Amino acid sequence: MPLVSMRQLLDEAAKGGYGVGAFNVNDMEQIQAIMAAAKETKSPVIVQASRGARQFAEDLYLFKLIQAAAELNPEIPIAMHQDHGNSFETCKSAIELGYTSVMMDGSLKEDGKTPSTFEENVAVTKRVVDYAHERGVTVEGEIGVLGGVEDGHGAGGSGLDHITDPDQAVEFAEKTGVDALAIAIGTSHGAYKFTKKPDGSVLKMDVLIAIHKRLPNTHLVMHGSSSVPKDLQDVVNQYGGKLKETWGVPVEEIQLGIRNGVRKINVDTDNRLAMTGAIRKVLWETPEKFDPRDYMKPAREAMKKVVALRMVQFGQAGHAGDYAPISIEQIAKGYKDGTLSTQPLVAAK
Ligand code: G3H
Ligand code: 13P
Ligand code: ZN
Repeated sequence: MPLVSMRQLLDEAAKGGYGVGAFNVNDMEQIQAIMAAAKETKSPVIVQASRGARQFAEDLYLFKLIQAAAELNPEIPIAMHQDHGNSFETCKSAIELGYTSVMMDGSLKEDGKTPSTFEENVAVTKRVVDYAHERGVTVEGEIGVLGGVEDGHGAGGSGLDHITDPDQAVEFAEKTGVDALAIAIGTSHGAYKFTKKPDGSVLKMDVLIAIHKRLPNTHLVMHGSSSVPKDLQDVVNQYGGKLKETWGVPVEEIQLGIRNGVRKINVDTDNRLAMTGAIRKVLWETPEKFDPRDYMKPAREAMKKVVALRMVQFGQAGHAGDYAPISIEQIAKGYKDGTLSTQPLVAAK
């Protein structure tokens, strides 16, 4: 099946009351791992590439690999998403390549580091929405700022520095017409999210719930959602790694989010840990080996296991066959004639 609109995927997830994992990719093995997990669990899926990934793999290689994934797995709805677009031009280039969804992360300036003003964020996001919707492409915006830095992208600091204000979230959704809204509730990118096991109060789930109450039909997005499980950390460290003790986002908190409007859940770090652990193990135990297949195959398998588990935990498992994909041209028409609404339903305070 052709690549699917992320808007359709998330609308269906909202109807079914489940979340959809958005997994980052940089290479063929990661794409294969996600597709094997999606096939095994019969899950619709969002595959996403950061600017760093697009640079690392080269646009055309990466996009052709996604097309191959879609061709080889016609029963799986796949949305291809630009993760953390830093400018109109980045989003435009992804749309020109054939991505069916883009994130305009206007919470940061174009340098991907400095927090922007609310007005700057609205202006650039709205510009992307107008351009993307005309072409049937979904847009995710971000209000509030995540912590941490990945590959040079991010404001740094703790995830608790710039929590989303629910009133601003409402105004942002109304002014931009985004299809999905990433909010900051205390998570950060990367492995080092929390220095102790987070209890229920560490993440600002009350803020998430307040935003969902005001915007009951808006698809919320949780970034920085790796759980950084101890068993994956242990494998890395057992075979020569030097990860410091750390905690991620407990899956139960994500599930609470899913019950309160979270439809897209971004996961990258857990997969990085799984692959690195598997590679380290092979090289540690059998240092005489030098064929990349000897360590890439277990690495791919380790990532597949993590992704399949998350697909079950987020609830997307079993939903691949629920709906027929709407063509991107039809989606564009829907935005134009208003069948696909871009104005959020806003509930009173
Ligand atoms: O946004 C963070 C993702 O984990 C992508 O990371 O920019 O290092 O590719 P990256
Ligand atoms: P993690 O670093 O927690 O996997 O988050 C990934 C992410 O948010 C990608 O946009
Ligand atoms: Zn992110």
